[in-house]
Amino acid sequence: MYNKYVVENNSSMKKILVIGSSGLLGSRIIEVGRDSYEMFGTYSKHKTDAENDYHLDSLNRKQTFAVVKEVNPDFVIDTHAITNLDYCETHPEEAWNVNFEGAKNIAEASENTGAKYVFLSTDNVFDGTKETYFETDKAHPLNQYGKTKVAAEEMLEASSIDFLVIKTAVLYGIGGIGKPSFATWLISKLENGEKVKAVTDQKNNPTFVDSLAASILKLCEKNARGIFHVSGKDCISRYEFSLQIAEAFGFGKEMVIPVSSSELNQVAKRPKAVNLGIGKVEKATGMNVLSIKEGISMFRKQIVI
Ligand SMILES: NC(=O)c1ccc[n+]([C@@H]2O[C@H](COP(=O)([O-])OP(=O)(O)OC[C@H]3O[C@@H](n4cnc5c(N)ncnc54)[C@H](OP(=O)(O)O)[C@@H]3O)[C@@H](O)[C@H]2O)c1
Repeated sequence: MYNKYVVENNSSMKKILVIGSSGLLGSRIIEVGRDSYEMFGTYSKHKTDAENDYHLDSLNRKQTFAVVKEVNPDFVIDTHAITNLDYCETHPEEAWNVNFEGAKNIAEASENTGAKYVFLSTDNVFDGTKETYFETDKAHPLNQYGKTKVAAEEMLEASSIDFLVIKTAVLYGIGGIGKPSFATWLISKLENGEKVKAVTDQKNNPTFVDSLAASILKLCEKNARGIFHVSGKDCISRYEFSLQIAEAFGFGKEMVIPVSSSELNQVAKRPKAVNLGIGKVEKATGMNVLSIKEGISMFRKQIVI
């Protein structure tokens, strides 16, 4: 049986509102937390069928305030964003509106009802020139997506909002209605017998989404404040990550073709290597951060029964 994350919460059942429960991370936070918290979610374009879910467009400030007020949660976990780096680069205004203005609306609506606001940020706030990045390191984003996230973090730091910022990287797992994660996309390609190109010169820490969800809920339970890096332990290239997935799911190495970034014509500039230091979250939660092998093994158990 798949070793499911179960989050224990000893206090009376608290309420959590997950903004973006139709997305990958949002859907898994709902799933991982449902036995211990009263969970509510929101969708924008992809309607979920959950009873406790609301329609919410973060650009509609009035609607955002109304939904947060009606649920009146203890925590608002904001997983909503435009996450496609290249789309953000070619649609900077839309990216700014959703990722910055939308986050600001949700953060202020949370403050209005006395809820703690949890914001999801990214390793793309860093430029990849340092060996390991810690929570105290200064941001220097190379792309529009990263810029929108830095601006939201700065807005929170300058405010009186009770917030938690989680910086994470390359999520893999099953969940969400809108789009598959890179890993599930890769598996479907390999299943179709198609070869896949993956870059050797972009490294980061792939993160099993259920483990991230469990860590976020644990940080909420501990009433943590400020910035935390929460990701997988190993910093590897997209090529190495793809090879490990191919191997775990029984596909040959030759199905993954190593390429350099220059061959892919990606619109948004990416940092070459961002290794997130994860000591702070391990200490705060007492939870072990997963190695890539452990994470992929849990992911595989969700898919292969
Ligand atoms: N995925 C990664 O590898 C990664 C890495 C680092 C950080 N992060 C951050 O982690 C968070 C979760 O990522 P994810 O991959 O789970 O995202 P995702 O699957 O792309 O889901 C995004 C969510 O945002 C919602 N949304 C988009 N525009 C909205 C709007 N205007 N108003 C309200 N909701 C809106 C979507 O709702 P509909 O689909 O219903 O429209 C969806 O539920 C994001 O903040 C992301 O920046 C992700």
